[in-house]
Amino acid sequence: MPKIAIHKDGHIHEGEVKDNTNLVVRAGIKQFPFPHLKYRCGMGQCGTCTSHILAGGEHLPPPNWKEQKILGERLKLGYRLCCQLWINQDLALTQDNLVPAAPPCTSS
Ligand code: FES
Repeated sequence: MPKIAIHKDGHIHEGEVKDNTNLVVRAGIKQFPFPHLKYRCGMGQCGTCTSHILAGGEHLPPPNWKEQKILGERLKLGYRLCCQLWINQDLALTQDNLVPAAPPCTSS
């Protein structure tokens, strides 16, 4: 069973989840990583679940098109959208001190 570590506000919140777990779905039913994970839409649209993967990112699948659209250049920093990830390996992440998204292009 994957072990998850959420680094938040100087603390590490750890828990185990079943294989093939989506952390946002679990948080939505008030199971760990609730209440430590920020999320909103659960559909790869709002970016609220953006997380910096600190360890275990090498086991994740390549970013899907929603992650590419929302995260853009920040994918190179190791950022992922938790709502788009089904976890099968140990993972450590944080949502603290993230680089903000680039402002949308305003040229017409
Ligand atoms: S919760 Fe909205 S993009 Fe993940």
